Amino acid sequence: MRQIAISMLSADFLHLEKDVRFVNAEADIFHLDIMDGVFVPNISYGFPVVEAIASISEKPLDAHLMIVSPEKYVERFAGAGVGMLSFHLNATEDPASVADLIHRHGMKAGIAINPDIPVESLYPYLDCCEYMLIMSVFAGFGGQKFIENTYSRVSALKSEITRRGLSCLIEVDGGVSGKNASALAEAGADILVSGSAVLKAPDPSEAIRLMR
Ligand code: DX5
Ligand code: ZN
Repeated sequence: MRQIAISMLSADFLHLEKDVRFVNAEADIFHLDIMDGVFVPNISYGFPVVEAIASISEKPLDAHLMIVSPEKYVERFAGAGVGMLSFHLNATEDPASVADLIHRHGMKAGIAINPDIPVESLYPYLDCCEYMLIMSVFAGFGGQKFIENTYSRVSALKSEITRRGLSCLIEVDGGVSGKNASALAEAGADILVSGSAVLKAPDPSEAIRLMR
Protein backbone atom coordinates (compact mmCIF):
# COMPACT_ATOMS: atom_id res chain seq x y z
CA MET A 1 0.00 0.00 0.00
CA ARG A 2 1.58 3.27 -1.07
CA GLN A 3 2.04 5.94 1.56
CA ILE A 4 1.46 9.62 0.87
CA ALA A 5 3.88 12.12 2.40
CA ILE A 6 3.05 15.81 2.15
CA SER A 7 5.88 18.30 1.62
CA MET A 8 5.17 21.18 3.98
CA LEU A 9 7.29 23.48 1.78
CA SER A 10 4.02 24.27 -0.02
CA ALA A 11 2.07 24.88 3.21
CA ASP A 12 0.36 28.16 3.96
CA PHE A 13 2.80 29.39 6.60
CA LEU A 14 0.37 32.06 7.80
CA HIS A 15 -2.05 29.25 8.62
CA LEU A 16 0.30 26.37 9.27
CA GLU A 17 -1.98 24.71 11.80
CA LYS A 18 -4.68 24.28 9.16
CA ASP A 19 -2.31 22.39 6.85
CA VAL A 20 -0.93 20.26 9.70
CA ARG A 21 -4.46 19.22 10.68
CA PHE A 22 -5.20 18.44 7.03
CA VAL A 23 -2.17 16.10 6.83
CA ASN A 24 -3.13 14.50 10.16
CA ALA A 25 -6.56 13.74 8.74
CA GLU A 26 -5.78 12.76 5.15
CA ALA A 27 -2.15 11.79 4.55
CA ASP A 28 0.36 9.40 6.12
CA ILE A 29 3.61 11.30 6.68
CA PHE A 30 4.86 14.88 7.08
CA HIS A 31 7.77 15.52 4.69
CA LEU A 32 9.93 18.39 5.96
CA ASP A 33 12.40 19.90 3.47
CA ILE A 34 15.42 21.38 5.22
CA MET A 35 17.63 23.54 2.95
CA ASP A 36 20.73 25.45 4.00
CA GLY A 37 21.47 27.67 1.00
CA VAL A 38 24.81 25.83 0.56
CA PHE A 39 24.03 22.26 -0.48
CA VAL A 40 21.11 23.66 -2.49
CA PRO A 41 20.59 27.24 -3.73
CA ASN A 42 17.60 27.88 -1.47
CA ILE A 43 16.84 28.24 2.23
CA SER A 44 13.65 26.78 3.67
CA TYR A 45 12.86 26.63 7.39
CA GLY A 46 14.40 25.22 10.54
CA PHE A 47 13.78 23.94 14.04
CA PRO A 48 11.06 26.37 15.20
CA VAL A 49 8.83 25.26 12.33
CA VAL A 50 9.71 21.56 12.71
CA GLU A 51 8.93 21.73 16.44
CA ALA A 52 5.66 23.57 15.86
CA ILE A 53 4.53 20.88 13.41
CA ALA A 54 5.71 18.13 15.79
CA SER A 55 3.68 19.61 18.65
CA ILE A 56 0.36 18.78 16.96
CA SER A 57 1.33 16.11 14.42
CA GLU A 58 -0.34 12.71 14.62
CA LYS A 59 1.71 11.24 11.77
CA PRO A 60 5.45 10.47 11.44
CA LEU A 61 7.81 13.34 10.60
CA ASP A 62 10.20 12.65 7.72
CA ALA A 63 12.92 15.31 7.48
CA HIS A 64 14.74 15.54 4.14
CA LEU A 65 18.06 17.25 4.78
CA MET A 66 19.46 19.21 1.84
CA ILE A 67 22.37 20.49 3.90
CA VAL A 68 26.10 20.04 4.17
CA SER A 69 27.45 18.16 7.22
CA PRO A 70 24.15 16.42 8.04
CA GLU A 71 25.81 14.54 10.93
CA LYS A 72 26.01 17.80 12.90
CA TYR A 73 22.23 18.03 13.18
CA VAL A 74 21.11 14.44 13.73
CA GLU A 75 20.68 14.87 17.48
CA ARG A 76 18.70 18.12 17.07
CA PHE A 77 16.26 16.53 14.62
CA ALA A 78 15.75 13.56 16.94
CA GLY A 79 15.03 15.99 19.78
CA ALA A 80 12.60 17.94 17.59
CA GLY A 81 10.41 14.86 17.15
CA VAL A 82 11.56 13.61 13.74
CA GLY A 83 11.24 9.85 13.20
CA MET A 84 12.66 9.50 9.68
CA LEU A 85 15.78 11.40 8.65
CA SER A 86 17.32 11.43 5.19
CA PHE A 87 20.47 13.14 3.90
CA HIS A 88 22.00 13.38 0.44
CA LEU A 89 24.59 10.78 -0.56
CA ASN A 90 27.04 13.45 -1.73
CA ALA A 91 26.63 15.62 1.37
CA THR A 92 28.94 13.39 3.39
CA GLU A 93 32.13 11.37 3.02
CA ASP A 94 30.77 8.45 5.01
CA PRO A 95 27.06 7.73 4.43
CA ALA A 96 27.10 4.45 6.40
CA SER A 97 28.26 6.14 9.57
CA VAL A 98 25.68 8.95 9.22
CA ALA A 99 22.99 6.25 8.87
CA ASP A 100 24.40 4.55 11.96
CA LEU A 101 24.27 7.83 13.90
CA ILE A 102 20.64 8.33 12.84
CA HIS A 103 19.83 4.82 14.11
CA ARG A 104 21.57 5.46 17.41
CA HIS A 105 19.23 8.42 17.86
CA GLY A 106 16.21 6.17 17.40
CA MET A 107 15.24 7.30 13.88
CA LYS A 108 14.84 5.56 10.55
CA ALA A 109 17.61 6.47 8.09
CA GLY A 110 17.29 7.35 4.42
CA ILE A 111 19.73 8.38 1.71
CA ALA A 112 18.66 10.78 -1.05
CA ILE A 113 20.03 11.24 -4.56
CA ASN A 114 19.41 13.88 -7.20
CA PRO A 115 18.36 12.83 -10.73
CA ASP A 116 21.93 13.00 -12.08
CA ILE A 117 23.36 10.45 -9.65
CA PRO A 118 23.19 6.77 -10.75
CA VAL A 119 20.91 4.65 -8.55
CA GLU A 120 23.70 2.05 -8.40
CA SER A 121 25.60 4.40 -6.10
CA LEU A 122 22.97 3.61 -3.44
CA TYR A 123 23.49 -0.17 -3.64
CA PRO A 124 26.25 -0.36 -0.98
CA TYR A 125 23.85 1.21 1.56
CA LEU A 126 20.62 -0.70 0.90
CA ASP A 127 21.16 -2.95 3.90
CA CYS A 128 21.91 -0.12 6.34
CA CYS A 129 18.93 2.16 5.66
CA GLU A 130 15.16 1.85 6.00
CA TYR A 131 14.51 3.90 2.85
CA MET A 132 16.07 5.53 -0.19
CA LEU A 133 14.84 8.90 -1.46
CA ILE A 134 14.86 9.17 -5.24
CA MET A 135 14.54 12.77 -6.34
CA SER A 136 12.32 13.22 -9.38
CA VAL A 137 13.36 16.90 -9.62
CA PHE A 138 16.64 18.55 -8.62
CA ALA A 139 16.52 19.28 -4.90
CA GLY A 140 16.05 22.91 -3.95
CA PHE A 141 12.59 24.09 -4.90
CA GLY A 142 8.99 22.96 -4.75
CA GLY A 143 6.70 23.11 -7.77
CA GLN A 144 9.14 21.79 -10.40
CA LYS A 145 8.28 19.49 -13.29
CA PHE A 146 8.55 15.71 -12.74
CA ILE A 147 11.50 14.10 -14.57
CA GLU A 148 10.25 11.14 -16.60
CA ASN A 149 13.25 8.82 -16.31
CA THR A 150 12.42 8.44 -12.61
CA TYR A 151 10.30 5.38 -13.45
CA SER A 152 13.25 3.40 -14.79
CA ARG A 153 15.44 4.51 -11.89
CA VAL A 154 12.84 3.36 -9.36
CA SER A 155 12.33 0.01 -11.04
CA ALA A 156 16.08 -0.65 -11.24
CA LEU A 157 16.42 0.11 -7.55
CA LYS A 158 13.39 -2.01 -6.69
CA SER A 159 14.82 -4.98 -8.62
CA GLU A 160 18.08 -4.77 -6.68
CA ILE A 161 16.24 -4.56 -3.32
CA THR A 162 14.07 -7.55 -4.24
CA ARG A 163 16.99 -9.57 -5.65
CA ARG A 164 18.84 -9.19 -2.34
CA GLY A 165 15.73 -9.88 -0.24
CA LEU A 166 16.00 -6.53 1.56
CA SER A 167 13.20 -4.48 3.10
CA CYS A 168 14.47 -1.00 2.19
CA LEU A 169 11.60 1.24 1.02
CA ILE A 170 11.69 3.64 -1.93
CA GLU A 171 10.46 7.22 -1.52
CA VAL A 172 10.00 9.45 -4.57
CA ASP A 173 10.06 13.24 -4.23
CA GLY A 174 9.39 16.09 -6.66
CA GLY A 175 6.58 16.88 -9.07
CA VAL A 176 4.50 13.94 -7.84
CA SER A 177 0.73 14.13 -8.36
CA GLY A 178 -2.28 12.03 -9.30
CA LYS A 179 -0.91 12.02 -12.87
CA ASN A 180 2.17 9.92 -12.08
CA ALA A 181 1.39 8.28 -8.70
CA SER A 182 0.10 4.96 -10.07
CA ALA A 183 2.98 4.53 -12.51
CA LEU A 184 5.45 5.30 -9.72
CA ALA A 185 3.84 2.75 -7.41
CA GLU A 186 3.92 0.18 -10.22
CA ALA A 187 7.63 0.91 -10.75
CA GLY A 188 8.22 0.16 -7.07
CA ALA A 189 7.76 3.38 -5.09
CA ASP A 190 6.48 2.84 -1.55
CA ILE A 191 6.26 6.45 -0.35
CA LEU A 192 5.15 9.29 -2.61
CA VAL A 193 6.03 12.84 -1.59
CA SER A 194 3.82 15.61 -2.89
CA GLY A 195 3.81 19.31 -2.06
CA SER A 196 2.32 21.76 -4.51
CA ALA A 197 0.08 19.25 -6.32
CA VAL A 198 -1.80 18.69 -3.06
CA LEU A 199 -1.48 21.79 -0.90
CA LYS A 200 -1.91 24.27 -3.75
CA ALA A 201 -4.76 22.33 -5.36
CA PRO A 202 -8.24 23.86 -5.32
CA ASP A 203 -9.38 20.68 -3.55
CA PRO A 204 -6.45 19.13 -1.61
CA SER A 205 -8.53 16.15 -0.41
CA GLU A 206 -9.39 15.27 -3.99
CA ALA A 207 -5.71 15.63 -4.97
CA ILE A 208 -4.78 13.05 -2.31
CA ARG A 209 -7.61 10.76 -3.37
CA LEU A 210 -6.27 10.82 -6.94
CA MET A 211 -2.80 9.87 -5.69
CA ARG A 212 -4.14 6.91 -3.70
C1 DX5 B 1 12.51 19.67 -3.42
C2 DX5 B 1 11.87 19.02 -2.22
C3 DX5 B 1 10.54 18.39 -2.49
C4 DX5 B 1 9.52 19.31 -3.07
C5 DX5 B 1 8.20 18.63 -3.27
O1 DX5 B 1 13.77 20.11 -3.07
O2 DX5 B 1 12.71 18.02 -1.73
O3 DX5 B 1 10.07 17.73 -1.32
O4 DX5 B 1 9.35 20.44 -2.28
O5 DX5 B 1 7.31 19.58 -3.76
P1 DX5 B 1 6.54 19.42 -5.14
O6 DX5 B 1 5.60 18.26 -4.93
O7 DX5 B 1 5.85 20.72 -5.27
O8 DX5 B 1 7.54 19.15 -6.20
ZN1 ZN C 1 11.89 16.67 -0.16
